[in-house]
Amino acid sequence: MTRMDEESTGRDRQGGMALGLQGMSKGYAAPAWPRASHRARAPAVLDALAGSMLVQFVREPALVGGVVPSSNVLARAMSRQARGYPAVIELGAGTGAVTRCLVAEHAEAVLTVIEREPLLARRIATSFPRARVRIGCVHERVDDLLAQPARAVAVSSLPFRSLPGNVAATTIAAIERFLLDHPERRLVQYSYGLRAPFAFRDARLAWRRVERVWRNVPPAIVWVAGSRLL
Ligand SMILES: C[S@@+](CC[C@H](N)C(=O)[O-])C[C@H]1O[C@@H](n2cnc3c(N)ncnc32)[C@H](O)[C@@H]1O
Repeated sequence: MTRMDEESTGRDRQGGMALGLQGMSKGYAAPAWPRASHRARAPAVLDALAGSMLVQFVREPALVGGVVPSSNVLARAMSRQARGYPAVIELGAGTGAVTRCLVAEHAEAVLTVIEREPLLARRIATSFPRARVRIGCVHERVDDLLAQPARAVAVSSLPFRSLPGNVAATTIAAIERFLLDHPERRLVQYSYGLRAPFAFRDARLAWRRVERVWRNVPPAIVWVAGSRLL
């Protein structure tokens, strides 16, 4: 493809959109052609923006639940609770802040990730090839949850307080089954308020508050749930 072809199609050699060049007439004295590195960077910047928590939040506020990723401090506090488990399943990995810690701190564990947003899920798969990434909502991927071995921990960033009622109810039912199938299983979840993330319907399950994390926007509390915690 010649440079002029690129101008008239608005596409750069990598196949991405060359910003600001669409619709340019052939007689137009073009400004200095941006260096290749700039042209390659424009789609990359747009791609990064599209996958940011802010853009995701604007698109689906109830399903994303926040505008900034979890801080490193919160991610490490969540990851600590997965220590010693041979299998970890992350629910709602978003931008991968918690995934990064899980991969780094639990190298020996089998890590499965469920994320409903395809763009974010693909990024997690590319950034963390060791993770088995499943695209979809947790209540649609119950088999992946229940197929975990007996000693497994679910590490969740799901925004239970803002999820649509029916999605929250079916997701909670799936998590209850996951926990009750094997009493040693645990759920790790953070909340922004003081209340537990959600109420269990089954009285055999309970929450334990494990850590307050001030260095997060907003400050959060890490909780662990399971049976025999009372
Ligand atoms: C609070 S954000 C993720 C925070 C994450 N720790 C981070 O730092 O990026 C919640 C994520 O859960 C995902 N999500 C929401 N509902 C879901 C569901 N039912 N199943 C799977 N993922 C879900 C959203 O797409 C979003 O990426």
